[in-house]
Amino acid sequence: MQAVFLVSVLLCATCYIASAITDGLLPNGNFELGPKPSEMNGTVVIGRQAVPEWEISGFVEYIKSGQKQGDMLLVVPEGAYAVRLGNEASIKQRLKVIKGLYYSLTFSAARTCAQEERLNVSVAPDSGVLPMQTMYSSNGWDSYAWAFQAEVDVAEIVIHNPGVEEDPACGPLIDSIAIKVLYPPKATNQNILKNGDFEEGPYVFPNTSWGVLVPPNIEDDHSPLPSWMVESLKAVKYIDSDHFSVPKGKRAVELVAGKESAIAQVARTIPGKTYDLTFAVGDASNSCEGSMIVEAFAGKDTTKVPYESKGKGGYKRAVLRFVAVSPRTRIMFLSTFYTMRSDDFSSLCGPVLDDVKLLSVRKPRRM
Ligand SMILES: *[C@@H]1O[C@H](CO)[C@@H](O)[C@H](O)[C@H]1NC(C)=O
Ligand SMILES: *[C@@H]1O[C@H](CO)[C@@H](O)[C@H](O)[C@H]1NC(C)=O
Ligand SMILES: *[C@@H]1O[C@H](CO)[C@@H](O)[C@H](O)[C@H]1NC(C)=O
Repeated sequence: MQAVFLVSVLLCATCYIASAITDGLLPNGNFELGPKPSEMNGTVVIGRQAVPEWEISGFVEYIKSGQKQGDMLLVVPEGAYAVRLGNEASIKQRLKVIKGLYYSLTFSAARTCAQEERLNVSVAPDSGVLPMQTMYSSNGWDSYAWAFQAEVDVAEIVIHNPGVEEDPACGPLIDSIAIKVLYPPKATNQNILKNGDFEEGPYVFPNTSWGVLVPPNIEDDHSPLPSWMVESLKAVKYIDSDHFSVPKGKRAVELVAGKESAIAQVARTIPGKTYDLTFAVGDASNSCEGSMIVEAFAGKDTTKVPYESKGKGGYKRAVLRFVAVSPRTRIMFLSTFYTMRSDDFSSLCGPVLDDVKLLSVRKPRRM
């Protein structure tokens, strides 16, 4: 009797671990499994359970890559299928997660005919509205990241188009929805800043070469780029060494929206102490050429770091020495200029930032 009980407990423990989600695509996260022909009217999906693993509501279309809309050819980033969310339409999936952990979601979306598209991503009680006005990649598809903390064992992930377009079929296309556990980084005796090398961040699709946008106005503790905030209006781009040139490690950020996007972190400092903020500025080897400037801020102190990019990769190091005036110092970076890729004048790009370190200086020499 006891043995049976023990075995079932063990079995259940393993089955629980096995069933908790692993990093990568959600079940049918790329929508390659579609509705039966009887569950579609043209491209419109009929029935809430018609798309395997998902629950849909409202005007949802199942789109095949290569399908035409007017004179626009619809292309899909992963596999051959995607979904389109019309006005007030949503897709939903329930996932087993581990209560208390932080998760980031990454998904690809393309704007179609509407200009003011937005998506509301939610896992109750968290939600975030991601603006899609700015297209960063010229093929129309961008990947977006969003993060949440699991408050219960099951996360109900909802992506909703709150749009009110005249044409209900003018909503965004969605493809490739993935999840990744985020481990909150800690400050060390090597760095007062957390996640200064940007190694901890959202899932990056192995097969997409356009990085992941970390959208603006995300709260500190729920950032898909842990410990960092994206301030102001526009996103920063999270890039990986498989597809881009990165100064250190496997990940970095590209400041793609000029002064409209800034990345920041508040550090604990001791008033009166001298600190060095060191960082690497480079280019992602993505044909982003020209004179660039990264502005670094530490409280009221600031420096401008010029970088001449040939668009072929490379970086330089820079330092901002400052004396802290308060117990909390806001560290912030932005790019002075807008830059477009020389091979593609409709893709925004910019300088790369990586390996950001903040340390107090023992015996500052006069500079
Ligand atoms: C399919 O769509 C057309 C036009 O949108 C509509 O007239 C028709 O009633 C729909 N058929 C079904 C079975 O829902
Ligand atoms: C986004 O969706 C969530 C969950 O449905 C909702 O609580 C929230 O109010 C929505 N936000 C906006 C701005 O519509
Ligand atoms: C990436 O692309 C390769 C070749 O097209 C394909 O075999 C592989 O399954 C893709 N991986 C993912 C995660 O989609």
